[in-house]
Amino acid sequence: MSVSAEKISVVSPEEMRIQREYIEKIKTILSVRYPESSPKAYVHTYGCQGNVADSERIKGQLFEMGYVFTENREEADFVLFNTCAIREHAEDRVFGNVGALKPIKNLKKDMIIALCGCMMQQKHVSERIKRSYPYVNLVFGTFAIHRVPELLYKVLRGGKRVFETEETKGEIAEGLPVYRDREFKTWLPIMYGCNNFCSYCVVPYVRGRERSRAPEEVIKEAKELISLGAKEITLLGQNVNSYGKNSLSGVNFPKLLEMINELPGNFKIRFMTSHPKDCTKELLDTMARCEKVARHLHLPFQSGNNRVLKEMNRGYSREKYLELIVYAKKVMPDISITSDIIVGFPGETYEEFKDTLSLIEEVRFTSLFTFIFSPREGTKAKNMPDPVPYSEKSKWFSELLKVQERIAAERCKGMVGKTFEVLVEGTTKENDGRLTGRTDGSINIDFEGDESLIGEYVRVKVTNALNWILSGEIQK
Ligand code: 5AD
Ligand code: SF4
Repeated sequence: MSVSAEKISVVSPEEMRIQREYIEKIKTILSVRYPESSPKAYVHTYGCQGNVADSERIKGQLFEMGYVFTENREEADFVLFNTCAIREHAEDRVFGNVGALKPIKNLKKDMIIALCGCMMQQKHVSERIKRSYPYVNLVFGTFAIHRVPELLYKVLRGGKRVFETEETKGEIAEGLPVYRDREFKTWLPIMYGCNNFCSYCVVPYVRGRERSRAPEEVIKEAKELISLGAKEITLLGQNVNSYGKNSLSGVNFPKLLEMINELPGNFKIRFMTSHPKDCTKELLDTMARCEKVARHLHLPFQSGNNRVLKEMNRGYSREKYLELIVYAKKVMPDISITSDIIVGFPGETYEEFKDTLSLIEEVRFTSLFTFIFSPREGTKAKNMPDPVPYSEKSKWFSELLKVQERIAAERCKGMVGKTFEVLVEGTTKENDGRLTGRTDGSINIDFEGDESLIGEYVRVKVTNALNWILSGEIQK
C-alpha cells in the first residue's frame, strides 16, 4: 500500500480542554457520592503492551478524577477490562470474566462496569455485550481513550448505558496524564495502528491505520520517563520499523532510536514489534552502534515456508528473513533473537510446517511466542479452507515446543559462567527471598539479593541453567 506524506493528525487542544473540564465535573460528582474516602477503581489489562500503555493513560485520567486503584474487583466502585481480540482464547477469557462480575454487581448496585480495547472495536462483540450483559454500563473502543472523561460523565449523570465504538480517523491524543505502576520499567508508544493486513490478523481492523507520534513528543516523553527514574524504556508499535513513514518529520525509526540513545541517563532502550518486511540493515547497524539499545531483537517470522508466508501476506520470504538474521548476528554477535510463530495456518501441510522447524534450528532463537491459528472475524484467513483438524495442529505445536525447549536449554547452558548486566524487576513468584530480573537479551534470571535492588542494574554471574531458566549470583 502506498501512503503519501501527510500531517500527523492530533486531537485538538480544544477537544483536550473539553475532556479536562469533564474530569473536573466528575471530581465534583465523586466527592459528593463518596464523601468518606476516595472511590476505588480496578483496571485489568489483557493482551499486549500496547494495551498496557493505553491502560496507563486511562488510569491517568481516572486518577485525576479522584479514583484510587485496587487489586480487588469486589471492593471496586469502577471496574474496567481493557480487552484483547488477537485470538479467540483471549476473547473467551474476557467473556468469562465479565460473566463473573454479575453476582458482584448484584451485591453492589452502584458499581460501574466498563469494557474497552480491541474486542470492543468489533461490532459483533459490542452487540453481544449490549444484548447479553445488561449490567455493563460503559463500552468504548480503541479510538476513544482520550474521551473517557466525557463518556464516564454521561454514565454517572444519566445512569444510561453508553456505547462508543465508532472508528474515527485515528487521531493521536497528546498530553494525557499517565499513571504507571512502575517507574523504572516503562512503555513508550511511538505509533498506533497497522497497515499490513496480514491475512490472519484482526489488529488493522480494531486499531486503524498506522500513525506515528511526532518525534518531539516521543523525545519529550522519553525525557520525562528518564527524569522519573526509568531504567528501561520500551518503544511500542505494531510495526515500529515503519515509524515516520507517513509523516512529514523525516525521522524514521533508526533515526528515532539514535535520538533517544543520545539522551543522557543510565537507561536501556528496547522496542517491539519489528516487522521483517521493514527491518533494514540501517536499523541493525543503528542498534549495533547505540550503546543504550538492548541486544535483543524481537522479529516475528510466523512461518518458515514461502507459500504460507505469501498466504499470510507477510511481504518477505524465508530467505529474506534469514538474510536479516545473518546480518544482525554479524553486526551484533551477542544479539538475542525472539520471534512469534503461528502453527496450523489454513491450508498449511505438515511438510510446510517442517520448514518452520528447520528455520528455528537454523536461527536458534532465545525464546518463542507460539500460537495455534485462531480464525478472526473479518480477516481473510477466516474464510480460507482449513482442512487440518485442531487435534493435529496441537500435535505439530507440541513438536515445535519440544524443539525450541531443547534449543533454549542448550543456549542457556552455554551462558553458565558468564556475567550479564541485569535489571532487577522484583521478587520471584515463589517468594523464596530471591530476586528476578532480565538480561540485556531478555532472558529471565533469578538470584539472591536485597529487595532494595529492585529497579537497579546489577551484574549477575550465571551459576546454573535448569532447561531455559537461569540462576546466578550478584557480582560485587
Ligand atoms: N491466530 C493465531 N495467532 C495470531 N497472532 C496474530 N493473529 C493471530 C491469529 N489469528 C499472533 C502472531 C502475532 C502475535 C502478536 O499474535 O504471531 O505476531
Ligand atoms: Fe497484525 Fe501483521 Fe499488523 Fe502485526 S503486522 S499487527 S501481525 S497485521
